Amino acid sequence: MPDTLTITDNRTAKAYDLPIQADTIRSADLARIKAGDDPVGLGTYDPALVNTAACRSKITYIDGDKGILRYRGYPIEQLAEQSSFMEVAWLLLEGELPTDAQLDSFKTAIHDNRVPPARIERIFDGLAEDPHPMGALIAAFGALGTFYPEAHNVGSAEVRRRQIHRIVAQAPALAAYAARRRRGESVVPPAEGLSFAGNFLYMLKATPGTRYTPHPVLERALDILFVLHADHEQNCSTFAMRSVGSSLADPYASVAAATAALYGPLHGGANEAVLRMLHTVGSLDKVPAFITSVKNGEGRLMGFGHRVYKSYDPRARIVKQIAEEVFEVTGRNPLLEIAQELERIALQDDYFVKRRLYPNVDFYSGLIYEAMGIPVDMFTVLFAIPRTVGWLAQWEEMLRDPETKITRPRQVYEGAAVREYVAMAARA
Ligand code: ACO
Repeated sequence: MPDTLTITDNRTAKAYDLPIQADTIRSADLARIKAGDDPVGLGTYDPALVNTAACRSKITYIDGDKGILRYRGYPIEQLAEQSSFMEVAWLLLEGELPTDAQLDSFKTAIHDNRVPPARIERIFDGLAEDPHPMGALIAAFGALGTFYPEAHNVGSAEVRRRQIHRIVAQAPALAAYAARRRRGESVVPPAEGLSFAGNFLYMLKATPGTRYTPHPVLERALDILFVLHADHEQNCSTFAMRSVGSSLADPYASVAAATAALYGPLHGGANEAVLRMLHTVGSLDKVPAFITSVKNGEGRLMGFGHRVYKSYDPRARIVKQIAEEVFEVTGRNPLLEIAQELERIALQDDYFVKRRLYPNVDFYSGLIYEAMGIPVDMFTVLFAIPRTVGWLAQWEEMLRDPETKITRPRQVYEGAAVREYVAMAARA
């Protein structure tokens, strides 16, 4: 059976054979199909790119029907249970699990780059009195690039690697600085001898001048959450990263753009929205009425549904387990019962069943963050910190791909045809 698609253009009665590769045809091949004096040929119309592959990638695999997520071929369940965020970061960036020596040298690179330039703290003084940490983080990533002008040289693998280490290493400090400045507190710079997740908790929570040791269970829980959030193939923010990066902008600018994309409540902002929703529902007896209001189109059940997963998001399953372990240390978050009841009712309700809406990674993660005493407006920031790894892995892959060109989609123009300019005095 030939791997081709035959298309007959009924306007011209001409037939075209297009090669099929990996279940896709090349949209550019459609441009051969022309009728009349059409100069550009046939294209596809795909708002939101729901059925268009915009790149080839070897990083993350998702099967949304079966609820499968793998980084570089390794199941997310095994990585969450057996590896660490630093190991996963190397895996995503370099393609293979690290050896002992590779992991050591990667950790050293992250450690050595973990302190942001001192002047960057002043960025936060130029923002609003109590800026949302995501807005502050977008500004901070953009500003960080000004300290490393060599970053413009995106053609050098060596230069790229240095920037990757800097961005991944400094993201926790910038995030913690953003949180502290919102609370009107002075920043706490990174410490020695703490893990990646532990250091973030330290910078977020420590009182300057006092000892702070993160609880090992909470530190490990946060590390696993970082593993789960490290990459998720071609989502909105990763597409922003690739799209901005395709103009050969430096990676700080591209990461700022990706962070901005993540901020929205339909993407990374959902974990914050879930918590606010659970507070609004308030008690178990209000759950049925809330579900009815969602079904009536008065709002969405935040933390439910996914463009790709049409079954249980495998990350949500792991997050639910971690929640139990965290609550043993922190005490049960009273909102958990409301979340569980929302899930129980939704999973039996025709509206959600028919649309194949299941909890996504954000449904339970906010409950853990809240139990850890992390402010709600920091939740999306906690997503951004590990996702810098995925963004940068995808950026590196894009720049190495000989097929990469600047992103520039077509449009279907529906505006006015050519018109003569009308002088002001003659306008109605
Ligand atoms: N609550 C209620 N109804 C929903 C929900 C929801 N959470 N999600 C989708 N639907 C309904 C839509 O109203 C639509 O119904 P219709 O066919 O009657 O019009 C149908 O399901 C399909 O929804 P779409 O918006 O077309 O699905 P899409 O793939 O574009 O959206 C998205 C996916 C944005 C994640 C959506 O499910 C949503 O808004 N969820 C809530 C926000 C959220 O949790 N986002 C986090 C996603 S995971 C992440 O980014 C980390």
